[in-house]
Amino acid sequence: MAKTVHIKTYGCQMNAYDSGRMADVLAPLGYRTTEVVEGADMVILNTCHIREKAGEKVFSDLGRLRPLKQAREAAGAAMTIVVAGCTAQAEGEELRRRAPIVDVVVGPLAYHRLPELVAQAVRQGGGVLDTDMPAEPKFDALPAQSARPGVSAFLTVQEGCDKFCSFCVVPYTRGAEYSRPVAEIVDEARHLLDLGAREIVLLGQNVNAYRGAATDGTSWSLGRLIERLAELPGLSRLRYTTSHPLDVDDALVAAHRDVPALMPFLHLPVQSGSDRILAAMNRRHDAATYLRVIERLRKAQPALAFSSDFIVGFPGESERDFQATMALVREVGFAQAFSFKYSARPGTPAANLDLRIDDATATARLHALQAQLWQDQEAFNRAQVGRVLPVLIDGPGRHSGQVHGRSPYMQAVHAEASTVEPGTMVAMRIVEGRLNSLVGEPAAPPAAAAA
Ligand code: SAH
Ligand code: SF4
Ligand code: F3S
Repeated sequence: MAKTVHIKTYGCQMNAYDSGRMADVLAPLGYRTTEVVEGADMVILNTCHIREKAGEKVFSDLGRLRPLKQAREAAGAAMTIVVAGCTAQAEGEELRRRAPIVDVVVGPLAYHRLPELVAQAVRQGGGVLDTDMPAEPKFDALPAQSARPGVSAFLTVQEGCDKFCSFCVVPYTRGAEYSRPVAEIVDEARHLLDLGAREIVLLGQNVNAYRGAATDGTSWSLGRLIERLAELPGLSRLRYTTSHPLDVDDALVAAHRDVPALMPFLHLPVQSGSDRILAAMNRRHDAATYLRVIERLRKAQPALAFSSDFIVGFPGESERDFQATMALVREVGFAQAFSFKYSARPGTPAANLDLRIDDATATARLHALQAQLWQDQEAFNRAQVGRVLPVLIDGPGRHSGQVHGRSPYMQAVHAEASTVEPGTMVAMRIVEGRLNSLVGEPAAPPAAAAA
């Protein structure tokens, strides 16, 4: 009998990938996904725990689900409620205690067991918890992807993190670093391309720490994996995220130089420009090291543009530390960046540090940093005006007669153009650069522009 599952995804791209895989696991049981939460047979909240606000969202969502579940039960039906993801991993017991409407709590490394867990919840009337970090990887137990991917598809190649930055929950919620074998990744990439994807985004919490077993008995780095994947027929573009500056090795630098499909845009978080704060964050590199990594990459691939994450208001951050961050930002000139106020996370070493920064100071620093970052982003986008860029079309634009696509630098590109098939590469002359998007026009008739 056909049943429906509604999946709500928070957090990073890896959670988005996992949500798709949970749907794959449930498909053989007769579940198809629905956008509508009311009346769904199952609701999965795939949670994020990275900052306090993110971790709390699940409780307000569960509050909204309670009447929906009760309405279903009053009508003689059921609504199985599953909490998955990083908050499930970190706060499984507490979730079970505080939110009795939750039937299943499942961590990010155990969701391949969803069918048994759901069956068990039905038998015992809820209260099932699985936050194991099993030795055998979940990937071995996952069925092939069933849903049609978009033009751009996520592919998790690495999971977990061994870096233990002092502010971060990820090493605790996703466990130790694990790299999927090369052959398994190549198969999944082929499958995604067969299903219509043209761009593949390789994912990992620390993706450039990738060390995957190859059939030749050696272990491949991310650079080598990228070279292999670039050979797959039908692939137009490759990207990867998120990287750690210390794991940028020569093979990865060479891939940026030699592999045309690898896009010249790299998310390489630095978090802070102050050596004192970087040390307190346990980032294991200083600002100069970061700048040298950027320089090495730019030398190999002058077209490269960078993005980063920043945390302001880390415990003990002085005005001088903050100015060091601003100086680094001005020096690199990021094409894009995300910035956050520090959020103390229980269980992380930084949560025990004194010298908390008051909220007003942290907010003022965040605003100053964002003003600079947005200025740089707008300048970068404006600098594209007059250039002809290959734009990968991913769908219709907001208005009729418009198409939407992505530049090599991930910028959204809008253009007036008669319908172009999603997945087509169109050479576009950029006529306008805005803060968050570009406006383009086809530079040549479609046939000649295909690349
Ligand atoms: N694995 C990635 C992403 C980690 S989470 C990496 O290493 O960069 C994404 C971003 O959230 C981080 O880069 C960091 O800037 C931010 N972040 C993580 N923990 C945080 C915290 N406790 N408070 C505020 N921001 C945080
Ligand atoms: Fe978190 Fe640091 Fe690992 Fe990134 S590298 S996931 S910030 S511990
Ligand atoms: Fe959030 Fe977990 Fe991703 S904490 S950012 S969902 S790895």
